[in-house]
Amino acid sequence: MKINVNYKDFTASYLFSDIAKRVKEFKENNPEAQVISLGIGDVTQPLTPSVLKALHKAVDEMGVAESFKGYGPEQGYAFLRETIAKHAYLDRGIQVSAEDIFVSDGTKSDIGNFQELFGADCRIAVTDPVYPVYVDSNAMSGRAGKWTGSQWSNIIYLPCTKENDFVPELPKEVPNCIYLCYPNNPTGSVLTKEQLKVWVDYAKANKSIILYDAAYEAYIQDPSLPHSIYEIEGADEVAVEFRSFSKTAGFTGLRCGYVVVPKKVVGYDDEGNTFSLKDMWNRRQTTKFNGCPYIVQKAAEAIYSPEGQEEIQALVKGYMANAQKILATLKDMGLQACGGEHAPYIWITTPNNMPSWDFFQLLLDKAHVVSTPGMGFGLSGEGYVRLTAFANSKNVDEALKRIAKVLA
Ligand code: MLT
Repeated sequence: MKINVNYKDFTASYLFSDIAKRVKEFKENNPEAQVISLGIGDVTQPLTPSVLKALHKAVDEMGVAESFKGYGPEQGYAFLRETIAKHAYLDRGIQVSAEDIFVSDGTKSDIGNFQELFGADCRIAVTDPVYPVYVDSNAMSGRAGKWTGSQWSNIIYLPCTKENDFVPELPKEVPNCIYLCYPNNPTGSVLTKEQLKVWVDYAKANKSIILYDAAYEAYIQDPSLPHSIYEIEGADEVAVEFRSFSKTAGFTGLRCGYVVVPKKVVGYDDEGNTFSLKDMWNRRQTTKFNGCPYIVQKAAEAIYSPEGQEEIQALVKGYMANAQKILATLKDMGLQACGGEHAPYIWITTPNNMPSWDFFQLLLDKAHVVSTPGMGFGLSGEGYVRLTAFANSKNVDEALKRIAKVLA
């Protein structure tokens, strides 16, 4: 068979697989080393009691003929879509219809798959540094152009560096699709409502759409910051929002997320005819996806009960305590660092302008601590590394002690 030649342009593996491979090699060569991972943003705290109870109950239902479930609706069960609409949106004064919510097995799949709805010549814009899935999934479909050694020729990059306080400027060329992630992975930065409104207004004026990744919204501490892009007037005409239970409720291993595709959001063909992205996404999902497991959707529903909410807020609080400790301790060491205030990620300037992969290697070799090199998130990530706050607090303390020793 002939291959999809777009895969030929990938010089390296997916960022986090690449890091995992390097860490595995290190462990094989240093079997005595107690490696602590502050690399991939994977949760470490167990599922909460409400989630476990719902899972057990749902498993039992599946073992009884009367309550057994086969294929579920590809869009997700109504009980979960309605619960999400009520608790995540309507109760907060945000207008989102359950009908526009599509439940899935997680945001990585949704965001990787959504680009299938874009035309081959659709121009995309991403903030730089960026969660690599946005770029790689478009490159796999041949939409990214040529790899120039550090960037793709056809992607519009919006640099986010300390010079602009990690807030992207509007693009000079008009993109068709703009990926935004706030609270941001990897820099931990946030946008105020006023800053987000600039993007919504821009998208409306230019017939662009915004793919808004809100996977980390639960980490926002300042109540004035937007949790959803639909807090901005008019966003329901131009924005699709991705949300996840992974970082919010410890579901990285269980897998559940959802995407909101409001019925007003449209794309265009060459003649300027409009097409509903919701209808297109529904067509895509019904063809290629058979739904998130019933028991997992029951577990997701459980986080919206009063006890469920208390439990997951405690999880987030614990991770945020780690984030604050990492940020403060690194600053005490004399490092420049940001993020960690409304996000579980801390973005650190490497000392003495060290390349990010070199600093990653130094931390691994000398402190046995895994970080994520900023360069892995894009060219503007060079000179930075990212640490996550998703470890347990004892490991965070130990990692910080070791890093201090290495940098002393
Ligand atoms: C990350 O470390 O950036 C995330 O864990 C990756 C993901 O959520 O897929």
